[in-house]
Amino acid sequence: MHIAVIMDGNGRWAKQQGKNRVFGHRHGVSSVRDTAEACAELGVKYLTLYAFSTENWFRPQLEVSALMTLLLKTINGELNTLLKNDIRLNAIGDIDSLPKSVAKELREAIEKTAHCKRMELVLALSYSGRSEIVRAMKQIALKIQSKEISLHEIDDNLISDSLYTAGIPDPELLIRTSGEKRISNFLLWQLAYAEFYFTEKFWPEFNKEELYKAILDFQNRERRFGKTSEQIAS
Ligand code: IPE
Ligand code: IPE
Ligand code: MG
Repeated sequence: MHIAVIMDGNGRWAKQQGKNRVFGHRHGVSSVRDTAEACAELGVKYLTLYAFSTENWFRPQLEVSALMTLLLKTINGELNTLLKNDIRLNAIGDIDSLPKSVAKELREAIEKTAHCKRMELVLALSYSGRSEIVRAMKQIALKIQSKEISLHEIDDNLISDSLYTAGIPDPELLIRTSGEKRISNFLLWQLAYAEFYFTEKFWPEFNKEELYKAILDFQNRERRFGKTSEQIAS
């Protein structure tokens, strides 16, 4: 199973406590830890977390740099836990646009956990679903231009394989916290048939219990993929 999460509401949670937004981001890290641990325990094979969008670069400079520092510290601080729990780290997005120190730390952690098998933890960083599709289209256009492939070879699979998420199955479940009901440029292609689960809880309040609730809700859905209920039942 693949679960994708839009971790939202850190700023509003902090505001509620009378604290600044960065306080919220810091507390969000424990929810990441909790969620990753719960997923690994449940046998979830892929967990993709939307941690920073390309649009988030336009936040106040101080918040952006605090987020980058937090990211660096978290990757560094969690590496041993990832290894101990046999969790492979991966990243999707424009990694080259991250500060050099962050990109380096990230690449090293990805390399060091490459052999891990229990679960893959995918961080969406400087990620934009539309940019991902544009990038894929360019790759495909180049292959056509160089006659490496012909027009009729363009299909769903080729497009999937040209995205950052090549080789990763589409998420079955998308969770968004904080009560917002939108996908904010996340996994536009990959979420084609995902079940959506929205909770009012802010991300720093999200924990194992909340994850179980989302999964239970998902298990009670009838995924019809365009067919009728009767067809699904038989
Ligand atoms: C999610 O929380 C974290 C990031 C987008 C980096 P927000 O920072 O968006 O918190 P709200 O939505 O403003 O409360
Ligand atoms: C989406 O949250 C991006 C991440 C969770 C990293 P935002 O808070 O940036 O999204 P909008 O602006 O509310 O759509
Ligand atoms: Mg938000």
